[in-house]
Amino acid sequence: MAIDLIKALGLNKTKKQTEVAKAPAQPAGASAQIQPHGTNVITTQVADNASQSVTSTSSEETKYEHYKPNFFDPVDVIKKKMLDVVDTIAPDIVEVNYDHLRINDVFIRSLFVSGYPRFVSPGWLEQIINFDSSLDISFFIYPIEGKGVLDDLLHKIAEMEAEIETDIERGKIINPSTKAKLEDARLLQEELVKGAEHFFEFAFYITVRAVDLEQLNYLTKQVESTLGALLVGAKVAYLDMESGFLSTAPFGLDRISITRNMDTTSLATTFPLTSAELSSDEGVLYGINPQNGSFIIFDRFNGKALENGNMSVFATSGAGKSYFVKLESLRYLSLGSEIIIIDPEAEYKALSDAVGGQYISFSFNSPSKINPFDLSQIYEEGENQLNLKILSLHSLFKVIMGDITPIQEALLDRAIVETYRGKGITQDPVTQTKEPPLLEDLYKTLAGKETPESADLAARIEKFVRGSFAGIFDQQSNVDIDNPFTVFSVKEMQDALRPVAMFVILDFIWTRVKRDLKQRILVVDEAWHMMRYADSAQFLWSIVKRARKYYLGLTTITQDVEDFLAQDIGKSIVTNSALRVLLKQSPAAIDTVGDVFYLSQGERQLLLSANVGEGIFFAGNNHAPVYIVASPEEHKFVTTKPQDVIAQEQARKQIKINS
Ligand SMILES: Nc1ncnc2c1ncn2[C@@H]1O[C@H](COP(=O)(O)OP(=O)(O)OP(=O)(O)O)[C@@H](O)[C@H]1O
Ligand SMILES: [Mg+2]
Repeated sequence: MAIDLIKALGLNKTKKQTEVAKAPAQPAGASAQIQPHGTNVITTQVADNASQSVTSTSSEETKYEHYKPNFFDPVDVIKKKMLDVVDTIAPDIVEVNYDHLRINDVFIRSLFVSGYPRFVSPGWLEQIINFDSSLDISFFIYPIEGKGVLDDLLHKIAEMEAEIETDIERGKIINPSTKAKLEDARLLQEELVKGAEHFFEFAFYITVRAVDLEQLNYLTKQVESTLGALLVGAKVAYLDMESGFLSTAPFGLDRISITRNMDTTSLATTFPLTSAELSSDEGVLYGINPQNGSFIIFDRFNGKALENGNMSVFATSGAGKSYFVKLESLRYLSLGSEIIIIDPEAEYKALSDAVGGQYISFSFNSPSKINPFDLSQIYEEGENQLNLKILSLHSLFKVIMGDITPIQEALLDRAIVETYRGKGITQDPVTQTKEPPLLEDLYKTLAGKETPESADLAARIEKFVRGSFAGIFDQQSNVDIDNPFTVFSVKEMQDALRPVAMFVILDFIWTRVKRDLKQRILVVDEAWHMMRYADSAQFLWSIVKRARKYYLGLTTITQDVEDFLAQDIGKSIVTNSALRVLLKQSPAAIDTVGDVFYLSQGERQLLLSANVGEGIFFAGNNHAPVYIVASPEEHKFVTTKPQDVIAQEQARKQIKINS
C-alpha cells in the first residue's frame, strides 16, 4: 500500500535519483524510512540536493558547482531534464499514521460509509456536499449482472419467508424487521424482473483535510454527525489511511472496497450536485456557486424552466450590479441576442465601444432625437396602437406636468387625439403609418383652446418646446436600434429630467421591440429613477408584464432597494422577474429584502457580509449563493473602477507611443 501511495504522489525515485542515492558521499535524493511504533515516515528532499548531485557528477567544469547558492527555477530544472514534473511537484513529507496522513502541513483523514438509510429522497447528500469545510468525496459505482442478483434475491426471499412461517408455526411474534426486508426484497425482485431497475454496488468515501490534528478531529466529528443526522453511518478507515486517501483522490482507485447494493433509483438520489437545477445545458454563465463550486448556467429565455425572461438586481452601491449585468449582456450578445441598455451613469460606453455597439447620448445639444408621439406602425389583432400610445402619453405628460385636475386630464386626452387627427392619424390602422405629430403640435392644440385649463397645460409643456428643455423630445425621431448592442445614455440630462428622458426612451424602445420579434435583453440601470413618479413606475411595470410576449427579457437594476420595494409596483416587478439577483445589502434594507425574498437568517447574514460580486441568485423557485466571475478579457470591458480605467488608459497610450 505504501508503494502505491509513493507512486501516486510521485515520490518514487527517478532513475537519476536512485543513482545518486547509491553514492555514499552524496545526499539521498529520496529516502523512505520505517520508523518504530508502526509509523511510516516517507521523506523526500527532491529538488535541490538531487539535481545538484546529478550536475556535479556530469563534468569537470561543474567541480565548484556546490559553492553556488541552492536556488532552482522549477521550470528550468524540468527543461534541463534534471527532474521530471512529478519530482518537482511532489510533497516534501508524507507521514502515515494509523488514523491520519500528513502531507507537508496538511492533515488528512478518510472515512468510509458503512450504513445507509432505508429511504432516501433526491439530493439527500446535499448537506455533506455543501459542507462548510472542503472535503474530498468519491463514489464508486459497479454495475452488477442482473441474473446473479435475481438468484440471490430468490434465495434470500425464500429464507425470509421460511423464517416468518416458522415463527407463525411456533406461535411467535413475527420479527418486524424481517417483514420489512421481505417487502423490500419482493418489490426489488419485481422491478428487476421487469427491467425497470438495474443493480449496482456503491461505495462512498470521504476525506477530511485540516491544518492540524485538533482541527482534523473537530471536522471528522462534524462530518460524522452531519452524516448521522441523515442516518448514514460513517467510520474512520483506521490503519488504512493511505487506501482512504487514494480512494478519494482522482485516480479512480477503490482501495477500500466497502460497498453496498443499490438499485437505479436509490443510486440516482446520490447525485451530488443538487443545486444543478441552476445549471442547465444552455444559456450563459451567471457565476459560481461558492458552496460546491458548481457553475450557475442558465438561459433566461428558457420558457420551460422560467415563466418569463425578466430579471431584477438589487444591491447597495458598488456591490457589482452593473458589472454583473454587463457580463451577462456580453455573454448573451455572443449568443446572438440583441442588447438594449438605458444607462443613466454613462457606465456602458467602454463596453459598447469594445463590442462595436451604438452609443446614443441624449443631451440638449446632441444630434439624437426621439419623438414621444412615434407609433409602432404594426397592426395587431385586438390591440389598437393609437389607444395604447395615447395611454402611455398620458402617463408621460403626468410625469412632465405634475398633478393635473380631472378636467385637465380630459382636456389633455382630447387634445392628444386632435393632434394626431391633425396629421391624419385616426383609429384606422392604415392611417397610423403616417408621420406622427410633434410636441409642438400638441402645444399649439392646447394653446389654441383658449381656456384657462388648457392654457395651464400648454404652459407646463412650453419649456420642452420653446424653453430651456427644448431640443430633445420636440423633433422627429432620428435614432434607430439597428445595432445588436445599443446604449442610450441620459447622464447629460439634469437630475429632474432623467425620469422623463428614461420614460421617453423606454417608450421608444418598446415601440421598436414590438415591431419585429427577436430575442432581446433590455437593461434599465438605476431603475429607481423610474419609480420616483407613480406614472413612470406604472409604465415600467406594464413593460415587465408584457415583455415575455415580445421575446424580451427586461433587467431592472436598483440600488435604492428600500424605496423600490416599499412600493407595490416595485414588489410586483420583483414577483414578475423569474430571475432575481441579490448582492450585498445594507443593514437598513435587509429586513425589507429578507421579507420580500423570504430569506433565512443565514442568507440575510450572507448578504450583509457579502464581498463585491457575491450574493444570491434566484431562478424561478430555486436559489443558490453566487460568486460572479469574469475572465481577465471580460473584466477589461466591464470594470469601472478608476484604478482599472487609468491602468487601461496608460496601457493604450503606451501602445500608441510604441507603434
Ligand atoms: N464580480 C466582480 N469581480 C471583480 N470586480 C468586481 C465584481 N463586481 C464588481 N467589481 C468591481 O467593482 C466595481 C463597482 O461595481 P459596479 O459598477 O458594478 O457597482 P454597482 O453595484 O453597479 O454600483 P452603483 O449602484 O454605484 O452603480 C466595478 O467597476 C468592478 O471594478
Ligand atoms: Mg451601477
